[in-house]
Amino acid sequence: MTPKNLSTRDGSLQGISLFAAANANHERFAIITGASSGIGLAIAEELASREINLVLVALPGTGLEDVAIRLAQTHSIKVYFFCADLTHPAAPIKLFEECRQRKICPQILVNNAGFGNLELFESTDLNELLQMMRLNTQALVALTHLFIPILKQNRRSYILNLGSLAAFFKIPYKAVYSATKSFVYSFSAALRLELQSMNISVSCLCPGSTLTSARVRDILQRTSGKNPLFVQSPEAVARRAVNKMFAGQFRIVPGLHNRILLFLYSLIPEPVTEGLLLKIFKPMPALKPQLVVSIQNNAFGWGALGLANR
Ligand SMILES: NC(=O)c1ccc[n+]([C@@H]2O[C@H](COP(=O)([O-])OP(=O)(O)OC[C@H]3O[C@@H](n4cnc5c(N)ncnc54)[C@H](OP(=O)(O)O)[C@@H]3O)[C@@H](O)[C@H]2O)c1
Repeated sequence: MTPKNLSTRDGSLQGISLFAAANANHERFAIITGASSGIGLAIAEELASREINLVLVALPGTGLEDVAIRLAQTHSIKVYFFCADLTHPAAPIKLFEECRQRKICPQILVNNAGFGNLELFESTDLNELLQMMRLNTQALVALTHLFIPILKQNRRSYILNLGSLAAFFKIPYKAVYSATKSFVYSFSAALRLELQSMNISVSCLCPGSTLTSARVRDILQRTSGKNPLFVQSPEAVARRAVNKMFAGQFRIVPGLHNRILLFLYSLIPEPVTEGLLLKIFKPMPALKPQLVVSIQNNAFGWGALGLANR
């Protein structure tokens, strides 16, 4: 079955296009940010396999269109894709407007796009830290705020926000990242209370080390995450996330080892925990110089996109 492109791309950095399999007729929609790779892509696959139509969001030039075509073809669903840098304040509003114009009423909002780093705070490029805060927290709050009126119209809706195991710790060398994830966790918990009478279930997914992009793999290699026992695949994380989200669970921690770790940490006195965190997260030099080059490109690539968008 050949999906057809029902609207042409406008050629700008932000645009929305639709690929629909010929027999797509299901009207349940999920919006997933950061859907071109990693956990976001795995969640998209998981929802598509349950015949839920998708609106995929990621940076321009990341192969999102190919992902959209593949998912529409494989699962006979409608897949829209929207290419934008969500750190741009106008991007969430533009996405909302595009959905409204097309009468897309999502039942599920997955705020997944986000990134972290592993570096001494004072040595980290300030622009990178501010972009991290914008993506991990501000874009998530903006999209949630914009889409609640639509989500409210369904008999049952779901918001899945990407926290992290880092939300429960104050992590040296990841000071801003862990703070953004604590924000996401706290915000999601409070919002869940506000929205429960509106039949919107809010969940916060808190994965531990998950093997995703080259940037993430490099960070994991330079920390305790290099132990393969403590690393999960994005597919395993997504499967549990989607199951638990539909079951209405708030805190979703994939991986038994991660749940045990959280429990053990709760028993340990804080000064001991702090000493452990300092030891675990003190960055080791990159092992493979070649990998560092690609990671630098990646980091600068998306930073440059953010600037080019303004
Ligand atoms: N991997 C882990 O170990 C881990 C652990 C705990 C929590 N998390 C959280 O899980 C989420 C996904 O992480 P991941 O490891 O799957 O990351 P990833 O593989 O790097 O994927 C991140 C996704 O977000 C998109 N994205 C990045 N910057 C964006 C921007 N400015 N605007 C729009 N989209 C943007 C990326 O697009 P591009 O492909 O263009 O970059 C990609 O689709 C993040 O919130 C992360 O903090 C990850």
